[in-house]
This record gives sequence, structure tokens and C-alpha cells, in this order.
Amino acid sequence: MNSILMTTLALTVISAIFALLLTIADRTIGNYGEVKLIINDDKEFTVEGGSSLLSTLIDQKVFIPSACGGKGTCGYCKVQVHEGGGPVLPTELPFLTKEELEKDVRLSCQCKVKQDIKIEIPEELFNVKEFEATVEDIVDLTSVIKLIRIKLPEGEEVNFKAGQYVQLKAPLYEGNDEEVYRAYSIASSPAEKDHIELVIGYVPEGIATTYVHHHLNIGDSVHINGPYGDFYYQGNDRDMLLVAVGTGVAPILSILKHMKENNIQRKATFYFGAKTPDDLFMLDYFKELEETLYDFKFVPCLSRVTEDDGWNGFKGRVNNALDEFIDTGDNKEAYLCGSEKMIDSVIESLTKKGISEELIYYDKF
Ligand SMILES: Cc1cc2nc3c(=O)[nH]c(=O)nc-3n(C[C@H](O)[C@H](O)[C@H](O)COP(=O)(O)OP(=O)(O)OC[C@H]3O[C@@H](n4cnc5c(N)ncnc54)[C@H](O)[C@@H]3O)c2cc1C
Ligand code: FES
Repeated sequence: MNSILMTTLALTVISAIFALLLTIADRTIGNYGEVKLIINDDKEFTVEGGSSLLSTLIDQKVFIPSACGGKGTCGYCKVQVHEGGGPVLPTELPFLTKEELEKDVRLSCQCKVKQDIKIEIPEELFNVKEFEATVEDIVDLTSVIKLIRIKLPEGEEVNFKAGQYVQLKAPLYEGNDEEVYRAYSIASSPAEKDHIELVIGYVPEGIATTYVHHHLNIGDSVHINGPYGDFYYQGNDRDMLLVAVGTGVAPILSILKHMKENNIQRKATFYFGAKTPDDLFMLDYFKELEETLYDFKFVPCLSRVTEDDGWNGFKGRVNNALDEFIDTGDNKEAYLCGSEKMIDSVIESLTKKGISEELIYYDKF
């Protein structure tokens, strides 16, 4: 009996010592106190050390693109850290080229603020704003893709280029205990500055898409910030090839609306890829554009059709359609949106036709 008591007492004392040591470690090692954050040698903030550079910047309302919500998997959150960033971590290396490493580029979600830190970011990121907006409408485009129409607060405006994206915050909800931001391309026209439309597909067990598809209602408040991205409409007179699969249609919609509203007189062909007829959406809208846009052709492509579907359109993937319909890459540029696999196969098809990689713009979802 005595030995049981002694063992219990010894274990309790050891646990208490451990707890004390952990508290001291947390207060000393983990507590970096106030440090200075200097941006572009111009703006200076006093911030609490200890968090990632990305979340420290968000606290100061400086928004950096972060498509994976800080998990270190998208490589979007790059900033130049000239002083105070500590050594580059192994988690950053796969995303950084030799040139970027030489220019002090870091992944801001991986780099922790522990001391005074000097960073450089593109000036346009200071134009990124955060909005608490209201969901005005939700439309089912297919059984797994919704269009979300969002109204910005009264008097607020967003200025973006057709093709760019915003980040939407998925808040805490039953079954999700972390707030995350995810990237969604803007589907509406840049001319409509007080609204934003998004086209969001459902990813089973995905944090943000479960929120949008199963918890979000008309009238709810949502947090969005943006705009971001270097995928956007380029003004010139080349023929345009627009290629999208699934929700990749979102930025293409914005580009086409921009072209229509500004009566842009360029030849454009839109290849919309899906598996079955049920996965296509807004067909009437794209068909109508064939009548109302200057020189526009719509080519829906289905990769899994059966005889019963009665499909008269193109059978195959979008890259097969490009292989078949494009004769030469002369005077053409391309805008691609969809999965990594689809983009890679389309780039291969287009470069074989002689389109230079510099004239192929894309966003991998
Ligand atoms: C620039 C940019 C623009 C984007 N625009 C859009 C858009 O307009 N519409 C849109 O719907 N999405 C868009 N995305 C994708 C979007 O940002 C999210 O990645 C996606 O909605 C999944 O988020 P989630 O939080 O639901 O899933 P997560 O919680 O991040 O992921 C859950 C699991 O699903 C896997 N997963 C994530 N995405 C997919 C997928 N697409 N297919 C299969 N498995 C997946 C993950 O690897 C993970 O294992 C865009 C991404 C980028 C980078
Ligand atoms: S936010 Fe995605 S890698 Fe940093």
C-alpha cells in the first residue's frame, strides 16, 4: 500500500515539475515580446512576436495571398524578408527557386516573427481590402457547384482585373475548429464594383467548401479579402483561347463579361470541359455570347458520354479538342483554369502548336 502511495506521489511531483518547466519554457522561449515589423523601408508596426509572419501581417490588415490558409502547401504567400527572418526552413525549400532564395524570398506562413524584421512586398498588396459582406443569393449551377452572389457593405467598392481572385474566410462551424482562408476566382464583371460572384465546387470533407455548401445561407455575413493574382485579362489583339474545367469557369466568366461590356473586338474561343452533360452549366449564357460578342465560339467538351446521353458536341478532354481544332499557335494567347493535371496537359498541347509559354496564363486550383 505504502509503495503505491509513494509511486503516485512521485509521479505527481514529476508531472508538476514537467508542467512548471513547460510553463517557464513557454514564457521564455515562446515569448518574444514586442518587435518591430518594417515593410518596404516605409511602414513600421510594433507587433507581438511569436506568430507566423503571415498572421502577423493579417493582424496589421496587410493581406498576403495564401491559398492553402497557411499550411505551407500552396507556395502563394511569398514575401522578401531582408532582415530578421531566421534560417529558411525545409518546408519552404520546395517552393523557392535559387533566384528567389538569393533575393531573400520566404514563405510568410512558415517564417516566424521572433525579432525585429524587415520585409518587402509589392505595393499593390496595400490595396487589398477586407470586407464583411452579405450573401445576396445562392444558385445551384450543378449538384456540386454553387454560384454565390455577395454584396459589399454600403459605399464600399472592390477594384479588380478580370481573372483575379479573392480569399473567403471559412469560420468555425460544427465539425470545423479552425478558421481558414481559401482562394476563389471572381466570376463577376470588374465593372460591378459593389458585388462579387463566386463559383464554388464541393470538395468532400473540404473545410471551406463544406461551409459554403452545407452551412452558408442567403443573408449571412462573410469575410472576404482581395483582390489578388497575376492571372488576368491582357489587353492586346491576339486571338484568345479560353480553357476551363469545372469551377475553372469562374475567372473565364469575368473575362468574357469584361469583353462584352467593353465591346472588345477580338477573336475568342472558350473550351469548357466536363465529364457528363450534368457537369456543364450556364450553356445558354455561353451560346448567347456567340451572338452578342464580337467573334466568340463556345466549344463544350465531354469526356465521359454514353450513347444514351445523345451528345452531339465534342467527345473527349479539352486538350484533345485543342489538338484537333487548333491549326497553328500564330498570334494566339491562352487563359487556362482548372486542376493541375488539366493545366499541364493543355500547356503541352498548346506548346506543341507553337504557342510560347509566356503567352499561356493560368491559375491552378
Ligand atoms: C488562385 C486560386 C483560385 C481558385 N478559385 C476557385 C474557384 O473559383 N472555385 C473553386 O471551387 N475553387 C477554387 N480554388 C480552390 C479553392 O481555393 C480550395 O482549394 C477548394 O475550394 C478546397 O477548399 P476546402 O477548404 O474545401 O478543402 P481543404 O480543406 O483545403 O481540403 C480538403 C481535402 O481535399 C483535398 N482537395 C482540395 N481541393 C481539392 C479539389 N479541388 N479536388 C479534390 N480534392 C481536393 C485536399 O488535398 C485535402 O485533402 C482556387 C484555388 C486557387 C489557388
Ligand atoms: S499560405 Fe500556402 S504556402 Fe503559405
